[in-house]
Amino acid sequence: MEGSLQVRRPDFALGPSLPRYWHGGDPFQTHFLDALSSVFPPGEAFFVRSVQHYRERITDPALRDAMKAFAGQEGQHSRQHDRHVQILVAQGYRLLEVRNRIMRRVMPWVNRHLPRFSLALTAALEHLTALMARQTMRHPERWTGPMDPRMEPLWQWHAVEEAEHKAVAFDVLRAVAPGAGLRRFAMLLAVLGLVEETWMRTSYMLWVDRRLLQPRLWLRGLAFLWGRAGLLRRTGADFRRWFRRDFHPDDLDDGALLAIWRPRVAA
Ligand SMILES: [Fe+2]
Ligand SMILES: [Fe+2]
Repeated sequence: MEGSLQVRRPDFALGPSLPRYWHGGDPFQTHFLDALSSVFPPGEAFFVRSVQHYRERITDPALRDAMKAFAGQEGQHSRQHDRHVQILVAQGYRLLEVRNRIMRRVMPWVNRHLPRFSLALTAALEHLTALMARQTMRHPERWTGPMDPRMEPLWQWHAVEEAEHKAVAFDVLRAVAPGAGLRRFAMLLAVLGLVEETWMRTSYMLWVDRRLLQPRLWLRGLAFLWGRAGLLRRTGADFRRWFRRDFHPDDLDDGALLAIWRPRVAA
């Protein structure tokens, strides 16, 4: 996929008229995706710093180009999801922005002092975003179909670009730290970190809505994620491939899905 990465600069019609429950009219579904969306801006800035840290070490011109495009794509994602964060803040979820401000202070420190770990964590989180991107393209009726039409193109575009650049951080990591140990360790922390962050944010928003202690809402939420038509259903096998010694992100072929979705996103 490298060498053909295009930095698109879309402008989505996201504004204050976005309904509070923009995913199927459901509080849990919406706030789970709000949680992901709101963590993207500081997270993706971390990814870009992690990869750019090694720009002098990488000599392969194709990978250098891909690193630049990776920064461009992630920069655009941060910008668009930050607009969503502003809407969430205006809707009363102010602590999301406070949390992001803390992350923006702490994470550059991690980049500076633990650059190899930061890169491994980035590659691991990119594997997770690539899994979600594949699910989004494979099952639009679960992911983007129930979205408000103003939100739908944002997630479709983001999914396409995550699938396009899924190998960039991994290839840089392979060049500077080829061992499988760090990669596996980083994945464990990536999963723990992402679960903790999305769980905290989802709970916080449900708390603001006075819906935190509704068991049925949580049960429906679990089904939304892991049920028969769940967002994350049947991602386990692809996830576990990460732990193989000879794994490479391109082993999971997204070519057919991208052939369908690239033209739609371009439109
Ligand atoms: Fe992204
Ligand atoms: Fe990404």
